[in-house]
Amino acid sequence: MESILTRENEILKNNELVKIEKEYDEFEIIMLIYQKALNSIVEKFTNLKRILNEYYNYEVITNVTSRIKSPESIAGKMKKKKIEINYENMIQNINDIAGVRIVCNYKEDIYKIRNIIKNQKDIKVLKEKDYIKKTKKSGYSAYHIIIEVPVKIKEETIHIKVEIQIRTALMDFWATTEHKVKYKPKKKLSNINSFKLYIYAKIINMINDKMFKIYIKQNTNTKDISNLA
Ligand code: GTP
Ligand code: MG
Repeated sequence: MESILTRENEILKNNELVKIEKEYDEFEIIMLIYQKALNSIVEKFTNLKRILNEYYNYEVITNVTSRIKSPESIAGKMKKKKIEINYENMIQNINDIAGVRIVCNYKEDIYKIRNIIKNQKDIKVLKEKDYIKKTKKSGYSAYHIIIEVPVKIKEETIHIKVEIQIRTALMDFWATTEHKVKYKPKKKLSNINSFKLYIYAKIINMINDKMFKIYIKQNTNTKDISNLA
């Protein structure tokens, strides 16, 4: 059953307004709307994962995960970007309050998934960042897309931003480890370890390409899925 808060002490359950005890503040309501946008996107990609895998008999999408950014992280990011903290600025400037991560096997799958996202009629692509063609200084590699998702609240449709990160399993392995030891912690990682991580990212990238070459040689009749809507 789908439910979403509308205002103060009302909750929308299957499009019916129901009175509730608890009063939600503005921030909680905004977060619930982001959660609703995220749920619809996760559902879309979970369905797509199943359809693609059944049809092509190959795991194009291996994993779909999602998260809502914590209030502390949102505030921290706004402070870092020197943005005055209020809800309007948050909605305008923080693109990754709702985030989805799609993991696949090969770089080629990333671009296939990217094309599928761009073909979705109910998704508007706002921004794309190709950190595969242009790897970050850290060694980070992935494809990022900021989309806008329509969310229906009563009669009104509002558009909510969601960040999609598409990575291969190897890129994801590198990024989740690097995130734990360098990207996130306050303590600075030594130059030598930063350099090692950069080199390991290069090696991982090379292995990913070599594995793909072997895979494609053995599967010459792989279907093209780039036009799938
Ligand atoms: P933000 O304002 O911080 O979101 O930066 P941005 O607008 O330039 O976004 P970008 O697309 O560069 O990165 C957003 C997200 O990508 C981060 O929240 C991380 O999840 C991931 N990311 C970016 N760079 C790195 C990196 O060097 N290492 C790791 N582990 N993750 C990264
Ligand atoms: Mg982020």
